[in-house]
Amino acid sequence: MAGHAGTDAVILVGGQGTRLRPLTLSAPKPMLPTAGLPFLTHLLARIAEAGITHVVLGTSFKAEVFEEHFGDGSDLGIELEYVFEPEPLGTGGGIRNVLPKLRADTVMVFNGDVLGGTDLGAILDTHESTKADVTLHLVRVSDPRAFGCVPTDEEGRVTAFLEKTQDPPTDQINAGCYVFRREYIEKIPSGRPVSVEREVFPALLAEGARVQGHVDMSYWRDMGTPEDFVRGSADLVRGIAPSPALPGQRGESLIHPGAGVAPGALLIGGTVIGRGAEIGAGARLDGAVIFDGAVVEAGATVERSIVGFGARIGPRALVRDGVIGDGAHVGARCELLRGARVWPGVVIPDGGIRFSTDV
Ligand code: GDD
Ligand code: MG
Repeated sequence: MAGHAGTDAVILVGGQGTRLRPLTLSAPKPMLPTAGLPFLTHLLARIAEAGITHVVLGTSFKAEVFEEHFGDGSDLGIELEYVFEPEPLGTGGGIRNVLPKLRADTVMVFNGDVLGGTDLGAILDTHESTKADVTLHLVRVSDPRAFGCVPTDEEGRVTAFLEKTQDPPTDQINAGCYVFRREYIEKIPSGRPVSVEREVFPALLAEGARVQGHVDMSYWRDMGTPEDFVRGSADLVRGIAPSPALPGQRGESLIHPGAGVAPGALLIGGTVIGRGAEIGAGARLDGAVIFDGAVVEAGATVERSIVGFGARIGPRALVRDGVIGDGAHVGARCELLRGARVWPGVVIPDGGIRFSTDV
């Protein structure tokens, strides 16, 4: 692929990740371990692979964690800079706020929580060949209501931008990746919160700017909810979601070399076991995301759930479609079903929550 060294990348990572609480009480969403790596590593690797070498992170919530981990980006072969918003400026304000760091005339902006297999070079090609002012990457989803709905005309020009509408006119949505001509970033009002979705895009359309859509059918998932986080992680483990940070990855599970898995434990469905985690004999993990230092004891079942740092699932407990906070302890034989969220450090006694009467 041709290099895109003349393009800057901006990643918005300042959100609070509320839908992933309580995991995001201790770590910002883009830093949560995903198939064994902080989520953002997958996106940065994809950007680097496209030949973009200068990346600016727009941070706010838990800003320091990013720089502590990624530093100047040299490990990933990129130059990484950080711009901090003491008060969150929203998605549009976050883009405007990094302007002093931008060098190129073409700027590719990313939401920091999207797992995708998209060819970034192809989006840049569309932007160039249509001479667009702004180009939006679009995908199709079965339920567009949680996203920005973006209808286009027969030439692919964007005709409207309807953020989180209950009545979407199309299943085509904003995939959270934009190409801006730099001057259109300069036009975003500075010094106050601005939503790119609710304010900037509608204003650009109203003033007749050329806003182009680039639709493709590649892998795409917003990792912002527990369901999607678990699914995206499992897809990475199984090689369904490609990541340049995990070349050749393809399997039913991914186990950190420093984890302990007892004989007779069953790990399937894209399960990932973090560093120092311990899995007991006869445990059954299906699509489980086990963070570093967590423990799943003998005979426990964990399905499509996230178990936070240092948390413990007791013997023969069941966790299905749940989120267990850091350091929490789910007692033996407890049953936690769809939507359960256990807050960090909470201890549920043995047999303390059940849906059945047998012991
Ligand atoms: N710097 C900064 N400042 N970043 C922010 C701020 C802020 O004030 N608010 C949110 N972000 C970052 C988040 O960290 C995240 O990476 C990204 O902006 C998008 O925010 P989300 O909270 O994940 O938005 P969403 O998923 O509800 O909707 C957005 O993404 C969808 C696609 O995944 C919208 O852009 C939708 O239109 C889009 O369809
Ligand atoms: Mg999101």
